[in-house]
Amino acid sequence: MRVALLCPDMSNDSTERIVAHLRAWIAAAPAGARLPSSRALTRELGVSPVTVQKAMHQLNALGLIETRPGVGTFVRAGRPPSPVDFGWQTGALGTPRVRIPSLSSTQQVVSPDAIALHSGYPTRELLPTKLVQTAIARAARSASAAARSPAGGLPELQTWFANELAGATLAGAPPVTGRDVIILPGSQSGLSSIFRAVVGPGQPLAIESPTYWGAIVAAAQAGVVLVPIPTGSDGPNPETVDDVLRRSGARAFYAQPTFANPTGAQWSPERSRAILDIVRNRRAFLIEDDWAHDLGIDADPAPIATHDTEGHVIYLRSLTKSVSPALRVAAVIARGPVRDRIFTDLAAETMYVSGLLQTAALEVVSQPSWRAHLKRLRMELRTRRDFLAESVAEHVPQAHIENVPAGGLNLWLRLPQATDLARLSRDTAAHNVFIAAGDEWFPAEAASPHIRLNFSGPEPERYPEAARAIGVALTAQGC
Ligand SMILES: Cc1ncc(COP(=O)(O)O)c(C=O)c1O
Repeated sequence: MRVALLCPDMSNDSTERIVAHLRAWIAAAPAGARLPSSRALTRELGVSPVTVQKAMHQLNALGLIETRPGVGTFVRAGRPPSPVDFGWQTGALGTPRVRIPSLSSTQQVVSPDAIALHSGYPTRELLPTKLVQTAIARAARSASAAARSPAGGLPELQTWFANELAGATLAGAPPVTGRDVIILPGSQSGLSSIFRAVVGPGQPLAIESPTYWGAIVAAAQAGVVLVPIPTGSDGPNPETVDDVLRRSGARAFYAQPTFANPTGAQWSPERSRAILDIVRNRRAFLIEDDWAHDLGIDADPAPIATHDTEGHVIYLRSLTKSVSPALRVAAVIARGPVRDRIFTDLAAETMYVSGLLQTAALEVVSQPSWRAHLKRLRMELRTRRDFLAESVAEHVPQAHIENVPAGGLNLWLRLPQATDLARLSRDTAAHNVFIAAGDEWFPAEAASPHIRLNFSGPEPERYPEAARAIGVALTAQGC
C-alpha cells in the first residue's frame, strides 16, 4: 500500500524536523503502509540523501518502520501510538472552580496479595454473596430487566425503606411512608444532591470534623462553605453545635450519629435528643447519614430520624456495604417541600436508578436469610475488630486507639504529632500494607495525624503482619 506524503519544503530544516514530520505521517498511516522511496523523499523534501538516511535510521531505531531489502520501507505493525497532545483543553477548560482530589486513597486498587486496610467496602466473605447472585439472576428474568423505574424508585422498595424507619418511629411522630423515600444510586449521589438542593453554592454547611471524606468532596463540588464542628468518640458537643449554627447562620448540619466514619462514634440518646432540639430551635435541617445501619457490633442503630416530628431530619441509608457494593442502591427519606427539592435535583442528575438493581436489592432484603446474614456479620465484625485492635496494641505502641467502635468497619488511630503521613503510607505500601491517611477526613487542617484502618477487607489473619509494618515504619520516622 502506497500512501501519498504531503511535503512542505524542508530544505533548510534539520534531521529532527524531518523525523517529526515523518512521525506525524506514520501516526496517521495504517500499519503496513509503504513510505516513499529515499530518492522520492530526497526530491520531495528538498534535502540531501544523507539527511533522509539519518531520518530513516532514527525512525527504524524508534521501531516505527521496517525496511524490507529490495522491496521498500513500511510502517511497522504494532508500533507505539504517538502520545496525543491535549494541550488545547487547558485553554478551553480554564481553572477549576474548586481543586479537589479526583480519587480518595480509599479507592486505590491494590494487588490481591496486599493487606488492604484502606478500602471502605467489605470483602465478599462478609457479604450475602449467594443471596445476591440468586437475586440478580431472578431480577434478570423479571420484567425489570427491560423496564424504566419510576423516578422516585420502585414502590415496593420505597415502602421497604420507609418501614425500616417507621418500625422504629416513636409514638406521636407522623409515620414515614413510601412517598417520603427517594431511591438513590448509592448515598454518595444523595449527599451531592442534598448539598446542592438544600444548601447551595456559597452557603454554609455545618459538618463534623473529622467526617466522611466523600461528604467533604461532595460539598466542595457543590460549592458550599464548610463550617467544621469538632467531634470525638461521643459525637459533637451540643453547645458547640448550637454556637456554630448561630454564628455561621448554617441551615443544615451533616452528621453521622451512628458508628461514624471514621471515628466510630455513636451519639448517646441524650445527645441525639439535645442536638435534634438545637436543630429544631434554629429552624435548620439535620442531614443524618446512617451509612452503617446494618453494621452494628455491640450496639444497635437508633436513627435520630425516628424522633423527627416536623421534617427537620433528612435521612440517608445505604445498602452498598451490607448487601453488595455492586448493587448501588440507597435511599433518602425526607418530608415536606425539602423532599421535592431533593427529588428535582436527583431527577436532573440521575433521572432514575436501574430497576434491575432495585429489584435485586429488594429480593435480598426480603429473604428470611437476610436477617441470619446480619447476625453472622455482627459476630464476624466483632472478631475482626478485636483482633485488629489487639494487633495494633501489640505492634504499634505509638498509636492511640481513640475508640473501639460499637459498630462500623473502621479503627481510627491517633499518631504522634511528628508523623509524616504521606511517608508512612508510602513505606507501608512498600511492604504491601495499604492504610488510609487520616487527613482526607478533615474539612480543614487536621489537629493531629491519624490513620484509618478498615477491618472488613480480605485475610484478617494477617492483621499482626500489617500492624508490625506500621509500627516499624513509624519507628523509622523516629516516632
Ligand atoms: C459515611 C458514608 N456515607 C456515604 C457513603 C457512600 O456510600 P454509598 O456506597 O452508598 O455511595 C460512605 C461510603 O463509604 C460513607 O462512609
